[in-house]
Amino acid sequence: MTTPLRLGIAGLGTVGAGVVKILAGSGELIAARAGRPIEVVAVSARSRDKDRGVDLSGYDWEDDPVALAKRPDVDVFVELMGGSDGPAKAATEAALARGAHVVTANKAMLAHHGQALAELAEGNGAVLRFEAAVAGGIPVVKALTEGLAGNRITRVMGVMNGTCNYILTRMETAGLPYDEVFAEANALGYLEADPTLDVGGIDAGHKLSLLAAIAFGTRVAFDQMTLEGIERISIEDIRQAADMGYRIKLLGVAQRTADGLEQRMMPCLVPATSPLGQLEGGTNMVVLEGDAVGQIVLRGAGAGAGPTASAVLSDLIDVARNFRLPTFGQAATTLADAPPSQSAAPAPYYLRMALTDKPGALAKVASVLGEAGVSINRMRQYSHDAGSAPVLIVTHACARADLDAALDALPGTGVVETAPVALRIEEV
Ligand code: NAP
Ligand code: HSE
Repeated sequence: MTTPLRLGIAGLGTVGAGVVKILAGSGELIAARAGRPIEVVAVSARSRDKDRGVDLSGYDWEDDPVALAKRPDVDVFVELMGGSDGPAKAATEAALARGAHVVTANKAMLAHHGQALAELAEGNGAVLRFEAAVAGGIPVVKALTEGLAGNRITRVMGVMNGTCNYILTRMETAGLPYDEVFAEANALGYLEADPTLDVGGIDAGHKLSLLAAIAFGTRVAFDQMTLEGIERISIEDIRQAADMGYRIKLLGVAQRTADGLEQRMMPCLVPATSPLGQLEGGTNMVVLEGDAVGQIVLRGAGAGAGPTASAVLSDLIDVARNFRLPTFGQAATTLADAPPSQSAAPAPYYLRMALTDKPGALAKVASVLGEAGVSINRMRQYSHDAGSAPVLIVTHACARADLDAALDALPGTGVVETAPVALRIEEV
Protein backbone atom coordinates (compact mmCIF):
# COMPACT_ATOMS: atom_id res chain seq x y z
CA MET A 1 0.00 0.00 0.00
CA THR A 2 1.52 3.33 -1.03
CA THR A 3 1.36 6.31 1.31
CA PRO A 4 -0.94 9.05 0.04
CA LEU A 5 0.27 12.64 -0.28
CA ARG A 6 -1.97 14.62 2.08
CA LEU A 7 -3.09 18.13 1.18
CA GLY A 8 -4.40 21.07 3.16
CA ILE A 9 -6.01 23.54 0.75
CA ALA A 10 -6.45 27.17 1.84
CA GLY A 11 -8.68 29.11 -0.53
CA LEU A 12 -11.69 27.56 -2.24
CA GLY A 13 -12.43 30.21 -4.83
CA THR A 14 -11.93 29.91 -8.59
CA VAL A 15 -8.62 28.05 -8.35
CA GLY A 16 -9.10 26.17 -5.06
CA ALA A 17 -12.48 24.74 -6.08
CA GLY A 18 -10.94 23.90 -9.47
CA VAL A 19 -8.21 21.85 -7.77
CA VAL A 20 -10.74 19.97 -5.59
CA LYS A 21 -12.80 19.24 -8.70
CA ILE A 22 -9.88 17.76 -10.66
CA LEU A 23 -8.78 15.64 -7.69
CA ALA A 24 -12.34 14.33 -7.27
CA GLY A 25 -12.81 13.60 -10.96
CA SER A 26 -9.37 12.33 -12.00
CA GLY A 27 -8.05 10.84 -8.74
CA GLU A 28 -7.16 7.44 -10.24
CA LEU A 29 -5.36 8.87 -13.23
CA ILE A 30 -3.42 11.25 -11.00
CA ALA A 31 -2.50 8.44 -8.54
CA ALA A 32 -1.24 6.31 -11.43
CA ARG A 33 0.95 9.14 -12.70
CA ALA A 34 2.11 10.30 -9.28
CA GLY A 35 2.81 6.74 -8.08
CA ARG A 36 0.54 7.28 -5.07
CA PRO A 37 -2.83 8.82 -4.26
CA ILE A 38 -3.12 12.55 -3.65
CA GLU A 39 -5.78 13.21 -1.02
CA VAL A 40 -7.31 16.31 0.51
CA VAL A 41 -7.25 16.15 4.32
CA ALA A 42 -8.54 19.58 5.29
CA VAL A 43 -9.59 22.88 3.71
CA SER A 44 -9.97 26.51 4.72
CA ALA A 45 -11.81 29.55 3.36
CA ARG A 46 -13.55 32.55 4.85
CA SER A 47 -17.12 31.33 4.57
CA ARG A 48 -18.00 27.82 5.57
CA ASP A 49 -21.52 27.98 4.11
CA LYS A 50 -20.81 29.08 0.56
CA ASP A 51 -21.79 26.65 -2.21
CA ARG A 52 -18.60 26.12 -4.19
CA GLY A 53 -19.97 23.53 -6.60
CA VAL A 54 -17.76 20.80 -5.11
CA ASP A 55 -18.37 18.28 -2.32
CA LEU A 56 -16.29 19.24 0.73
CA SER A 57 -18.08 16.96 3.21
CA GLY A 58 -15.20 14.49 3.44
CA TYR A 59 -12.62 17.08 4.52
CA ASP A 60 -11.88 18.69 7.87
CA TRP A 61 -12.55 22.43 8.01
CA GLU A 62 -10.12 24.95 9.49
CA ASP A 63 -11.24 28.55 9.97
CA ASP A 64 -7.64 29.68 10.29
CA PRO A 65 -5.30 28.97 7.33
CA VAL A 66 -2.27 29.17 9.63
CA ALA A 67 -3.74 26.36 11.77
CA LEU A 68 -4.25 24.38 8.57
CA ALA A 69 -0.63 24.95 7.55
CA LYS A 70 0.55 23.70 10.95
CA ARG A 71 -1.44 20.44 10.94
CA PRO A 72 0.95 17.50 11.20
CA ASP A 73 -1.25 15.41 8.87
CA VAL A 74 -0.79 17.94 6.04
CA ASP A 75 2.20 17.10 3.80
CA VAL A 76 1.57 19.90 1.33
CA PHE A 77 -0.03 23.24 2.15
CA VAL A 78 -1.78 24.47 -1.00
CA GLU A 79 -2.05 28.26 -0.79
CA LEU A 80 -4.84 29.54 -3.08
CA MET A 81 -6.09 32.56 -1.14
CA GLY A 82 -4.03 35.32 -2.76
CA GLY A 83 -2.60 38.58 -1.42
CA SER A 84 1.05 39.45 -1.07
CA ASP A 85 0.99 39.50 2.74
CA GLY A 86 -1.60 38.69 5.40
CA PRO A 87 -2.85 35.12 5.88
CA ALA A 88 -1.29 33.81 2.64
CA LYS A 89 2.23 34.75 3.73
CA ALA A 90 1.71 33.84 7.39
CA ALA A 91 0.38 30.38 6.53
CA THR A 92 3.03 29.75 3.87
CA GLU A 93 5.76 30.62 6.38
CA ALA A 94 4.15 28.40 9.02
CA ALA A 95 4.10 25.42 6.64
CA LEU A 96 7.66 25.91 5.38
CA ALA A 97 9.02 26.50 8.89
CA ARG A 98 7.99 22.98 9.89
CA GLY A 99 9.33 21.47 6.64
CA ALA A 100 5.96 20.98 4.95
CA HIS A 101 5.88 21.62 1.20
CA VAL A 102 3.92 24.53 -0.30
CA VAL A 103 2.27 24.80 -3.70
CA THR A 104 0.85 28.23 -4.53
CA ALA A 105 -0.64 30.26 -7.40
CA ASN A 106 0.17 33.52 -5.64
CA LYS A 107 2.42 35.63 -7.86
CA ALA A 108 1.97 38.76 -5.69
CA MET A 109 3.34 37.01 -2.60
CA LEU A 110 6.29 35.53 -4.47
CA ALA A 111 7.10 38.76 -6.33
CA HIS A 112 7.44 40.53 -2.96
CA HIS A 113 8.75 37.74 -0.72
CA GLY A 114 9.98 35.03 -3.10
CA GLN A 115 13.61 35.18 -2.02
CA ALA A 116 12.89 34.92 1.72
CA LEU A 117 10.29 32.18 1.22
CA ALA A 118 12.57 30.17 -1.08
CA GLU A 119 15.40 30.41 1.49
CA LEU A 120 12.99 29.33 4.24
CA ALA A 121 11.81 26.36 2.17
CA GLU A 122 15.27 25.23 1.17
CA GLY A 123 16.63 25.71 4.69
CA ASN A 124 13.95 23.37 6.02
CA GLY A 125 14.16 20.70 3.32
CA ALA A 126 10.79 21.71 1.84
CA VAL A 127 9.80 22.60 -1.68
CA LEU A 128 7.91 25.74 -2.69
CA ARG A 129 6.40 25.47 -6.16
CA PHE A 130 4.42 28.02 -8.19
CA GLU A 131 3.67 26.84 -11.73
CA ALA A 132 0.13 28.28 -11.51
CA ALA A 133 1.39 31.73 -10.55
CA VAL A 134 2.68 32.55 -14.03
CA ALA A 135 0.53 32.43 -17.17
CA GLY A 136 -2.13 30.12 -15.70
CA GLY A 137 -2.19 26.81 -17.55
CA ILE A 138 0.99 27.37 -19.56
CA PRO A 139 3.79 25.20 -18.08
CA VAL A 140 6.36 27.96 -18.39
CA VAL A 141 8.04 27.51 -14.99
CA LYS A 142 8.66 23.88 -15.86
CA ALA A 143 9.89 24.86 -19.32
CA LEU A 144 12.50 27.16 -17.81
CA THR A 145 13.54 25.09 -14.77
CA GLU A 146 13.61 21.73 -16.57
CA GLY A 147 13.21 21.70 -20.34
CA LEU A 148 15.60 24.60 -20.96
CA ALA A 149 17.89 24.06 -17.95
CA GLY A 150 20.91 23.53 -20.22
CA ASN A 151 20.52 26.90 -21.91
CA ARG A 152 21.87 30.31 -21.20
CA ILE A 153 18.56 32.20 -21.43
CA THR A 154 18.97 35.39 -23.44
CA ARG A 155 15.47 36.85 -23.29
CA VAL A 156 12.04 36.22 -21.76
CA MET A 157 9.13 38.01 -23.32
CA GLY A 158 5.39 37.76 -23.25
CA VAL A 159 1.81 38.77 -22.78
CA MET A 160 0.97 37.54 -19.28
CA ASN A 161 -2.21 39.29 -18.25
CA GLY A 162 -5.33 37.94 -19.92
CA THR A 163 -7.53 40.79 -18.72
CA CYS A 164 -5.39 43.44 -20.43
CA ASN A 165 -5.20 41.41 -23.62
CA TYR A 166 -8.97 40.97 -23.53
CA ILE A 167 -9.49 44.74 -23.12
CA LEU A 168 -7.04 45.66 -25.89
CA THR A 169 -8.34 43.12 -28.42
CA ARG A 170 -11.99 43.88 -27.61
CA MET A 171 -11.37 47.62 -28.10
CA GLU A 172 -10.04 46.83 -31.56
CA THR A 173 -12.60 44.25 -32.69
CA ALA A 174 -15.68 46.05 -31.31
CA GLY A 175 -14.36 49.58 -31.88
CA LEU A 176 -15.22 50.45 -28.27
CA PRO A 177 -13.47 52.97 -26.00
CA TYR A 178 -11.33 51.85 -23.06
CA ASP A 179 -13.84 52.83 -20.35
CA GLU A 180 -16.64 50.84 -21.94
CA VAL A 181 -14.54 47.69 -22.37
CA PHE A 182 -13.15 48.06 -18.85
CA ALA A 183 -16.75 48.08 -17.52
CA GLU A 184 -17.52 45.05 -19.67
CA ALA A 185 -14.48 43.15 -18.33
CA ASN A 186 -15.58 44.05 -14.81
CA ALA A 187 -19.11 42.73 -15.43
CA LEU A 188 -17.63 39.49 -16.78
CA GLY A 189 -15.65 39.06 -13.54
CA TYR A 190 -12.27 39.26 -15.31
CA LEU A 191 -10.75 41.98 -13.15
CA GLU A 192 -8.84 41.32 -9.92
CA ALA A 193 -10.48 42.66 -6.75
CA ASP A 194 -8.10 45.61 -7.15
CA PRO A 195 -8.31 46.28 -10.93
CA THR A 196 -5.11 48.36 -10.94
CA LEU A 197 -3.24 45.08 -10.47
CA ASP A 198 -4.42 44.12 -13.97
CA VAL A 199 -4.65 47.37 -15.94
CA GLY A 200 -1.68 48.95 -14.16
CA GLY A 201 0.57 46.12 -15.40
CA ILE A 202 1.38 45.07 -11.82
CA ASP A 203 0.03 41.51 -12.03
CA ALA A 204 1.90 40.89 -15.28
CA GLY A 205 4.99 42.50 -13.73
CA HIS A 206 4.80 40.10 -10.78
CA LYS A 207 4.80 37.17 -13.21
CA LEU A 208 7.67 38.51 -15.29
CA SER A 209 9.81 39.08 -12.18
CA LEU A 210 9.42 35.40 -11.24
CA LEU A 211 10.40 34.19 -14.71
CA ALA A 212 13.37 36.55 -14.75
CA ALA A 213 14.68 35.09 -11.48
CA ILE A 214 14.66 31.58 -12.94
CA ALA A 215 15.92 32.59 -16.37
CA PHE A 216 18.86 34.70 -15.19
CA GLY A 217 19.68 33.18 -11.80
CA THR A 218 18.89 36.47 -10.06
CA ARG A 219 16.98 37.32 -6.89
CA VAL A 220 13.36 38.29 -7.58
CA ALA A 221 13.47 42.04 -8.19
CA PHE A 222 9.89 43.17 -8.83
CA ASP A 223 10.63 46.55 -7.23
CA GLN A 224 13.20 47.24 -9.97
CA MET A 225 10.79 46.67 -12.85
CA THR A 226 9.81 49.47 -15.22
CA LEU A 227 6.01 49.33 -15.15
CA GLU A 228 3.35 51.03 -17.20
CA GLY A 229 -0.31 50.05 -17.52
CA ILE A 230 -2.83 50.24 -20.33
CA GLU A 231 -5.07 52.91 -18.75
CA ARG A 232 -3.97 55.63 -21.16
CA ILE A 233 -4.42 53.58 -24.34
CA SER A 234 -7.29 55.06 -26.34
CA ILE A 235 -9.32 53.69 -29.20
CA GLU A 236 -7.42 56.23 -31.31
CA ASP A 237 -4.10 54.56 -30.43
CA ILE A 238 -5.55 51.16 -31.34
CA ARG A 239 -6.80 52.52 -34.69
CA GLN A 240 -3.59 54.36 -35.55
CA ALA A 241 -1.51 51.31 -34.67
CA ALA A 242 -3.75 49.05 -36.79
CA ASP A 243 -3.47 51.47 -39.67
CA MET A 244 0.32 51.05 -39.59
CA GLY A 245 0.10 47.22 -39.37
CA TYR A 246 0.59 46.95 -35.58
CA ARG A 247 -1.38 45.88 -32.52
CA ILE A 248 -0.93 47.20 -29.00
CA LYS A 249 -0.05 44.58 -26.36
CA LEU A 250 0.91 44.81 -22.70
CA LEU A 251 4.29 43.24 -23.34
CA GLY A 252 6.87 42.13 -20.80
CA VAL A 253 10.55 41.83 -21.64
CA ALA A 254 13.36 40.63 -19.36
CA GLN A 255 16.95 40.35 -20.47
CA ARG A 256 20.49 40.61 -19.22
CA THR A 257 22.28 43.75 -20.38
CA ALA A 258 25.97 44.64 -20.20
CA ASP A 259 25.49 46.12 -16.73
CA GLY A 260 22.50 44.41 -15.15
CA LEU A 261 19.00 43.11 -15.66
CA GLU A 262 16.37 44.83 -17.76
CA GLN A 263 12.78 44.15 -16.77
CA ARG A 264 9.95 46.10 -18.32
CA MET A 265 6.20 45.57 -18.57
CA MET A 266 4.50 48.17 -20.71
CA PRO A 267 2.17 48.58 -23.67
CA CYS A 268 4.06 48.25 -26.96
CA LEU A 269 3.25 48.11 -30.65
CA VAL A 270 4.00 44.70 -32.16
CA PRO A 271 3.53 43.67 -35.80
CA ALA A 272 -0.09 42.54 -36.31
CA THR A 273 1.11 39.48 -38.23
CA SER A 274 3.55 38.30 -35.49
CA PRO A 275 2.49 35.51 -33.09
CA LEU A 276 2.24 38.10 -30.28
CA GLY A 277 0.23 40.44 -32.50
CA GLN A 278 -2.25 37.70 -33.30
CA LEU A 279 -2.95 36.84 -29.66
CA GLU A 280 -6.66 37.34 -29.02
CA GLY A 281 -8.81 37.72 -25.89
CA GLY A 282 -7.65 36.39 -22.53
CA THR A 283 -4.94 34.16 -23.96
CA ASN A 284 -1.32 34.44 -22.76
CA MET A 285 1.88 33.92 -24.71
CA VAL A 286 5.41 33.52 -23.39
CA VAL A 287 8.45 33.62 -25.67
CA LEU A 288 11.68 32.11 -24.31
CA GLU A 289 15.04 32.45 -26.03
CA GLY A 290 18.06 30.32 -25.20
CA ASP A 291 21.55 30.16 -26.66
CA ALA A 292 21.25 26.51 -27.64
CA VAL A 293 17.54 26.04 -28.27
CA GLY A 294 16.75 29.29 -30.09
CA GLN A 295 13.21 30.54 -29.64
CA ILE A 296 10.34 28.70 -27.91
CA VAL A 297 6.79 30.05 -28.02
CA LEU A 298 4.22 28.90 -25.44
CA ARG A 299 0.59 29.91 -25.81
CA GLY A 300 -2.53 29.08 -23.81
CA ALA A 301 -5.09 30.05 -21.21
CA GLY A 302 -3.57 32.40 -18.67
CA ALA A 303 -6.39 32.18 -16.13
CA GLY A 304 -9.56 30.37 -15.15
CA ALA A 305 -10.40 27.45 -12.87
CA GLY A 306 -9.38 24.58 -15.16
CA PRO A 307 -6.13 25.96 -16.61
CA THR A 308 -4.85 27.30 -13.28
CA ALA A 309 -5.81 24.16 -11.35
CA SER A 310 -4.07 22.12 -14.06
CA ALA A 311 -0.83 23.94 -13.20
CA VAL A 312 -1.36 23.40 -9.44
CA LEU A 313 -1.82 19.68 -10.10
CA SER A 314 1.42 19.51 -12.05
CA ASP A 315 3.31 20.81 -8.99
CA LEU A 316 1.45 18.46 -6.65
CA ILE A 317 2.23 15.45 -8.81
CA ASP A 318 5.91 16.43 -8.81
CA VAL A 319 5.88 16.57 -5.00
CA ALA A 320 4.12 13.18 -4.85
CA ARG A 321 6.82 11.75 -7.12
CA ASN A 322 9.44 13.07 -4.67
CA PHE A 323 10.83 15.31 -7.38
CA ARG A 324 12.75 18.03 -5.59
CA LEU A 325 13.70 21.28 -7.26
CA PRO A 326 14.76 24.61 -5.72
CA THR A 327 12.03 27.25 -6.04
CA PHE A 328 13.82 29.27 -8.72
CA GLY A 329 15.67 26.39 -10.37
CA GLN A 330 18.90 26.81 -8.39
CA ALA A 331 19.59 27.13 -4.67
CA ALA A 332 18.06 30.39 -3.42
CA THR A 333 21.32 31.34 -1.67
CA THR A 334 23.13 31.25 -5.04
CA LEU A 335 20.78 33.70 -6.78
CA ALA A 336 22.63 36.91 -7.65
CA ASP A 337 21.73 40.54 -7.17
CA ALA A 338 21.42 42.27 -10.53
CA PRO A 339 21.28 46.05 -10.78
CA PRO A 340 18.33 47.43 -12.75
CA SER A 341 19.31 48.37 -16.25
CA GLN A 342 17.86 49.50 -19.56
CA SER A 343 18.98 47.95 -22.80
CA ALA A 344 20.97 50.38 -24.89
CA ALA A 345 19.37 48.89 -28.01
CA PRO A 346 17.48 51.68 -29.77
CA ALA A 347 13.86 51.25 -30.87
CA PRO A 348 11.35 53.29 -32.80
CA TYR A 349 8.56 54.92 -30.77
CA TYR A 350 4.94 55.84 -31.41
CA LEU A 351 4.00 59.22 -29.96
CA ARG A 352 0.50 60.66 -29.75
CA MET A 353 -0.20 64.10 -28.39
CA ALA A 354 -2.71 66.92 -28.73
CA LEU A 355 -1.24 70.29 -29.76
CA THR A 356 -2.72 73.74 -29.55
CA ASP A 357 -3.76 74.42 -33.15
CA LYS A 358 -1.76 77.56 -33.85
CA PRO A 359 1.07 78.54 -36.20
CA GLY A 360 4.47 77.03 -35.31
CA ALA A 361 3.17 74.43 -32.81
CA LEU A 362 4.35 71.47 -34.82
CA ALA A 363 7.70 73.14 -35.50
CA LYS A 364 8.27 73.54 -31.74
CA VAL A 365 7.64 69.83 -31.14
CA ALA A 366 9.90 68.83 -34.05
CA SER A 367 12.60 71.10 -32.68
CA VAL A 368 12.45 69.54 -29.17
CA LEU A 369 12.70 66.06 -30.65
CA GLY A 370 15.59 67.07 -32.89
CA GLU A 371 17.51 68.69 -30.05
CA ALA A 372 17.21 65.46 -28.02
CA GLY A 373 18.59 63.46 -30.97
CA VAL A 374 15.23 61.88 -31.83
CA SER A 375 14.59 61.74 -35.54
CA ILE A 376 11.05 61.73 -36.98
CA ASN A 377 10.18 58.94 -39.39
CA ARG A 378 6.47 59.62 -39.99
CA MET A 379 4.07 62.25 -38.81
CA ARG A 380 0.31 62.73 -39.17
CA GLN A 381 -2.01 65.45 -38.01
CA TYR A 382 -5.63 64.35 -38.01
CA SER A 383 -9.22 65.31 -37.07
CA HIS A 384 -8.82 68.83 -35.64
CA ASP A 385 -11.16 69.50 -32.78
CA ALA A 386 -12.00 73.00 -31.46
CA GLY A 387 -8.53 74.48 -31.44
CA SER A 388 -6.77 71.24 -30.63
CA ALA A 389 -4.79 69.20 -33.16
CA PRO A 390 -4.11 65.51 -32.48
CA VAL A 391 -0.69 64.57 -33.82
CA LEU A 392 0.85 61.16 -34.34
CA ILE A 393 4.62 60.83 -34.71
CA VAL A 394 6.62 57.67 -35.38
CA THR A 395 10.30 58.12 -34.63
CA HIS A 396 13.28 56.42 -36.15
CA ALA A 397 15.00 54.03 -33.75
CA CYS A 398 16.32 56.05 -30.81
CA ALA A 399 17.63 55.48 -27.29
CA ARG A 400 14.96 55.56 -24.58
CA ALA A 401 17.05 58.09 -22.65
CA ASP A 402 16.95 60.51 -25.63
CA LEU A 403 13.21 60.07 -25.97
CA ASP A 404 12.75 60.69 -22.24
CA ALA A 405 14.77 63.91 -22.55
CA ALA A 406 12.43 65.03 -25.34
CA LEU A 407 9.31 64.06 -23.38
CA ASP A 408 10.61 66.04 -20.39
CA ALA A 409 11.17 69.10 -22.58
CA LEU A 410 7.84 69.02 -24.43
CA PRO A 411 5.74 70.80 -21.75
CA GLY A 412 8.16 73.73 -22.05
CA THR A 413 6.98 74.36 -25.64
CA GLY A 414 3.64 75.59 -24.30
CA VAL A 415 1.80 73.90 -27.17
CA VAL A 416 1.37 70.33 -25.87
CA GLU A 417 -2.06 70.01 -24.27
CA THR A 418 -1.84 66.58 -22.62
CA ALA A 419 1.07 64.37 -21.64
CA PRO A 420 2.03 62.42 -24.81
CA VAL A 421 1.36 58.70 -25.08
CA ALA A 422 4.74 57.12 -25.94
CA LEU A 423 4.81 53.47 -26.95
CA ARG A 424 7.82 51.44 -27.96
CA ILE A 425 7.56 49.60 -31.28
CA GLU A 426 8.89 46.05 -30.85
CA GLU A 427 9.69 44.28 -34.09
CA VAL A 428 9.22 40.85 -32.47
P1 NAP B 1 -10.79 33.83 -5.30
O1 NAP B 1 -11.74 33.23 -6.25
O2 NAP B 1 -11.02 35.21 -4.82
O3 NAP B 1 -10.67 32.86 -4.04
C1 NAP B 1 -9.94 33.18 -2.91
C2 NAP B 1 -10.26 32.17 -1.83
O4 NAP B 1 -9.46 32.43 -0.69
C3 NAP B 1 -11.73 32.20 -1.39
O5 NAP B 1 -12.21 30.90 -1.24
C4 NAP B 1 -11.67 32.90 -0.03
O6 NAP B 1 -12.68 32.46 0.86
C5 NAP B 1 -10.31 32.45 0.45
N1 NAP B 1 -9.74 33.34 1.44
C6 NAP B 1 -9.44 34.64 1.31
N2 NAP B 1 -8.96 35.13 2.45
C7 NAP B 1 -8.95 34.12 3.32
C8 NAP B 1 -8.59 33.99 4.69
N3 NAP B 1 -8.14 35.04 5.38
N4 NAP B 1 -8.72 32.79 5.27
C9 NAP B 1 -9.18 31.73 4.58
N5 NAP B 1 -9.55 31.78 3.29
C10 NAP B 1 -9.45 32.96 2.68
O7 NAP B 1 -9.30 33.82 -5.89
P2 NAP B 1 -8.74 32.91 -7.06
O8 NAP B 1 -9.08 33.56 -8.35
O9 NAP B 1 -9.10 31.48 -6.85
O10 NAP B 1 -7.16 33.13 -6.86
C11 NAP B 1 -6.44 32.45 -5.88
C12 NAP B 1 -4.95 32.66 -6.13
O11 NAP B 1 -4.63 32.16 -7.42
C13 NAP B 1 -4.50 34.12 -6.13
O12 NAP B 1 -3.19 34.21 -5.64
C14 NAP B 1 -4.53 34.49 -7.61
O13 NAP B 1 -3.68 35.55 -7.94
C15 NAP B 1 -4.02 33.19 -8.19
N6 NAP B 1 -4.37 32.97 -9.59
C16 NAP B 1 -5.67 33.03 -9.98
C17 NAP B 1 -6.00 32.78 -11.30
C18 NAP B 1 -7.42 32.80 -11.77
O14 NAP B 1 -7.66 32.54 -12.95
N7 NAP B 1 -8.41 33.06 -10.93
C19 NAP B 1 -4.98 32.47 -12.22
C20 NAP B 1 -3.65 32.41 -11.78
C21 NAP B 1 -3.36 32.65 -10.45
P3 NAP B 1 -14.24 32.70 0.56
O15 NAP B 1 -14.54 31.94 -0.70
O16 NAP B 1 -14.95 32.13 1.72
O17 NAP B 1 -14.40 34.17 0.40
N1 HSE C 1 -5.81 38.75 -13.49
C1 HSE C 1 -5.00 37.76 -14.11
C2 HSE C 1 -5.11 37.89 -15.63
C3 HSE C 1 -5.42 36.37 -13.64
O1 HSE C 1 -5.98 38.60 -16.11
O2 HSE C 1 -4.30 37.31 -16.34
C4 HSE C 1 -4.41 35.33 -13.93
O3 HSE C 1 -3.22 35.52 -13.25
